[in-house]
Amino acid sequence: MKVTVVGAGAVGASCAEYIAIKNFASEVVLLDIKEGFAEGKAMDLMQTASLNGFDTKITGSTSDYSKTAGSDICVITSGIPRKPGMTREELIGINAGIVKSVSASLIEHSPNTIIIVVSNPMDTMTYLVHKTTGLPKNRIIGMGGALDSARFKYRLAEALEAPISDVDGMVIGGHSDKGMVPLTAHATRNSVKVSEFLSEDRLNQVKEDTKVGGATLTKLLGTSAWYAPGAAVSGLVQAIACDQKKMFPCSALLDGEYGLSDLCIGVPVILGKNGIESIVEINLSDAEKTHLSESAEGVKKTNGLLEL
Ligand code: LAC
Repeated sequence: MKVTVVGAGAVGASCAEYIAIKNFASEVVLLDIKEGFAEGKAMDLMQTASLNGFDTKITGSTSDYSKTAGSDICVITSGIPRKPGMTREELIGINAGIVKSVSASLIEHSPNTIIIVVSNPMDTMTYLVHKTTGLPKNRIIGMGGALDSARFKYRLAEALEAPISDVDGMVIGGHSDKGMVPLTAHATRNSVKVSEFLSEDRLNQVKEDTKVGGATLTKLLGTSAWYAPGAAVSGLVQAIACDQKKMFPCSALLDGEYGLSDLCIGVPVILGKNGIESIVEINLSDAEKTHLSESAEGVKKTNGLLEL
């Protein structure tokens, strides 16, 4: 199992690190445009192998896509991250050109690859990869919901004063401050609905804190986060590499599911060796349906800025 991660910045390097630590891939190639950067990160990570006990071989390359040839899964993290006060949508101008050329170069060397898009605005970048590469829709996956759900579980555990392993919950919709739809009515603590423990006000606070999860970190760090994004990507890569048939909310191209079409947005999907094996349609409340369709309108508006 060969995995390529394009972009050796904080998110790309964390992603490579978590994939290696989980020890399921034979090879991870890190690629960056900055001379020597990916090679340096790869060497540093390889020097953790004996300490962390993994056998995954990590190599780095400066823009040489021939090194990525034959990758089973490619992750695109390239582009600029947001700065405090910026929305993810504001990154579209620079990132669209980068994501378009990176995905074309990846497919040239790995025609059978599955692509995971992380670059922001993620739902629109995922849609762009669909529109410009023509790969089958199961092979293009946007990473956002897995990260947003991890942030939701963190906030739920905090409110419940419970360990995170007690908590389950999912965030669907667009990967944006306004577009996320945390499914509070479905969230549970050991199979008991969290509404049994938390007031409506407290749950609304959890929802709002979740939606600005990335912005809160960007303000604290001066740039966007990397540990949880890297860990979330590694979870998707592992589900595909190990054919786990695991359910994650991911940005998928919709064709009528949830009453939506011709956009990529976060919905629950089953991930296995074919990438998106299926899209799961769950029952949403009227309020959740309204929130999801508003979120879809926001994503479509951003998609409208693409020059396709
Ligand atoms: C975040 C970026 C990766 O939410 O979108 O941290």
